[in-house]
Amino acid sequence: MQPRKILITSALPYANGKIHLGHMVEHIQTDIWARFQRLRGHECYFVCADDAHGTPIMLRAQKEGIAPEALIARVKEEHQRDFAGFNISYDNYYTTHSEENRYYAEYIYLAARKNGHIAERTIRQAYDAQEQMFLPDRFIKGECPNCGSPDQYGDNCEVCGATYAPTDLKNAVSAISGTRPIEKETNHYFFKLGDFAAHLREFLQSGAVQKEIANKQMEWFESEQGLSDWDISRDAPYWGFKIPDTDEKYFYVWLDAPIGYLASFQNLAQRKGLDFNEYWQPASEAEVHHFIGKDIAYFHTLFWPALLTAAGFRTPTAVHCHGFLTVDGAKMSKSRGTFIQAESYLRHLNPEYLRYYFASKLTNGVDDIDLSLDDFIQRVNSDLVGKLVNIASRCAGFITKRFDNYLAADLPNPGLYQEFVAASDSIAEAFEARRYSQAIREIMALADKANQYVDEQKPWVLAKDAARSAEVQAVCTQGINLFRAIITYLKPVVPQLAADSEAFLNAGELTWGSVQTPLLAHPIKPFKALLTRIEREAVLAMVEDNKQALDQASAEASVQSAVASEPETTTQPSQLSADPLSAEIQYEDFAKLDLRVAKIVQAVAVEGADKLVQLTLDLGGETRKVFAGIKSAYQPAELEGRLTVMVANLAPRKMRFGVSEGMVLAAGPGGKDLFILTPDSGAEPGMRVK
Ligand code: MSP
Ligand code: ZN
Repeated sequence: MQPRKILITSALPYANGKIHLGHMVEHIQTDIWARFQRLRGHECYFVCADDAHGTPIMLRAQKEGIAPEALIARVKEEHQRDFAGFNISYDNYYTTHSEENRYYAEYIYLAARKNGHIAERTIRQAYDAQEQMFLPDRFIKGECPNCGSPDQYGDNCEVCGATYAPTDLKNAVSAISGTRPIEKETNHYFFKLGDFAAHLREFLQSGAVQKEIANKQMEWFESEQGLSDWDISRDAPYWGFKIPDTDEKYFYVWLDAPIGYLASFQNLAQRKGLDFNEYWQPASEAEVHHFIGKDIAYFHTLFWPALLTAAGFRTPTAVHCHGFLTVDGAKMSKSRGTFIQAESYLRHLNPEYLRYYFASKLTNGVDDIDLSLDDFIQRVNSDLVGKLVNIASRCAGFITKRFDNYLAADLPNPGLYQEFVAASDSIAEAFEARRYSQAIREIMALADKANQYVDEQKPWVLAKDAARSAEVQAVCTQGINLFRAIITYLKPVVPQLAADSEAFLNAGELTWGSVQTPLLAHPIKPFKALLTRIEREAVLAMVEDNKQALDQASAEASVQSAVASEPETTTQPSQLSADPLSAEIQYEDFAKLDLRVAKIVQAVAVEGADKLVQLTLDLGGETRKVFAGIKSAYQPAELEGRLTVMVANLAPRKMRFGVSEGMVLAAGPGGKDLFILTPDSGAEPGMRVK
């Protein structure tokens, strides 16, 4: 087997927040893959960095009365401490606020400009006259133009899901000064994403991206916003890199963030004497793998490959997306204390437990991953302590006490050992394909087999008969060799347990290949407990402790949620909201609604949208086309001919698949439980609902 050259990355965490267990899903997933590749003998580098630019970081530093440099340095240290606590084996953990990153950001921008991929034009943007700064969408709050909910951000409504421009908000205020924003013209720079449509199509269809993600991105090709020009500039004051040949314009944080992968690798390459170009030139035979969450797929599967292409670099071998972490079946929540910070976890629990648990749940898909605290305790105790460590602990004592630590010279059951060797290919395939849960299942099936062997041979019974001493040694030698094979396969997942086992086995480093040859006529070290059970109390204490840490953090951060993120408006088409809104309204507000009986004359599923149905509605002469997020509950055909109720005077709304001219009414929490409202018999299309 030829060693491969592999560069691996995890997404760069923002430098203004703490690392939580959601981040850990990603970094553990990536780390297992990196460790697996190294264990297989490949040349593999794993790099990451803090994503250190942007408005939220600038404001946070201001709030704390420190320079942004000081803030990002402090946070980077915290992040690195947390990741080290979980044994994440980066070859380099850097920052996007580096000279290397400035170099590559400018380089890529200038190359794109030279090749005609940068456009310049004037836009109108919300401006905080008091703070004298332009306001990102996330820093404007007001009433939703669609449903009127107060306190919504400038990009989309968390109550009804509508997306809109910040200028559409009613009674808008700046989240920074509380004053009313004005509109102001400003000159911006745009990256012409559409120039790369052909490349991107090819990239998405090349197998570099999971099917479900690739299909999702392909929708953008048909949409209006889709491959339109991407605004890569921000006005001063901004915390980032200045755009060459401008006075007061900065690169938007999402421009230099992925370039941080290049910069971190360049920094490593320089220290290690590696050839940067070998990994990044177009004809490169090296592999580049990005691990990211599905929320940032848009940036990594469209912008990023386009930027790389624009500047003459290769595109990634693969972008691997994972789902989101939920805790006990629900979104991580600050109030329930399930927004678990890495440091809270580490204060109470062994990191290997979580590494193992995540591995047992991770697949190559994008489904969310649930950390069920009961299941976590049960799974780790039963598998790692009950099954795995048990094999070694039942055999080691005899070898130490009776045979002066020496393993026997032969295996009594070489056939069984061969089965364990033979399993290596299929387990390796599962790790390679990121089907970790399958790898774990196969490994644990081996552990069951090993325990069954020891159970049947009963060394503790044999040990009572002095004449059968050689059998005791043989059986325990077999057991320890089976343990050794299993722990080798698990080494990417539980590196500390593997290191302790290596010390116990006393034969140097375990590699994927070393399983081929059993350990015989060899002195091991006295066995020490390798792992203890998870105590329920420790988990409860961790959750409690975490709640307090969250309370403290929210007391400290009063620039609040706006500071948490600054997403680009890549929101999906609006859906019916699951949460009822119970703000009181006046009769006048109600009277504004023009509710009408409508007949569904046609219903068609919207190609490429998993929730939407396009309805053609008859209002008694007038026809309207409306998008409704009801595909999960209805076959479009069964809707045709039915009467329902619609909001007829809703301003037309441009969505990704076309314009929606109103809204139909439905009840229920969503998914399959969604019920179109139907008037009683006798009602006719066009009738007003009062
Ligand atoms: N800074 C950007 C990434 C830039 S990469 C060039 C960012 N930062 S983040 O801190 O918000 O998220 C970092 C990574 O953590 C993302 O891949 C994101 O999907 C992942 N996760 C954040 N919360 C998560 C969960 N609750 N569950 C799983 N992964 C999650 O986005
Ligand atoms: Zn709304």
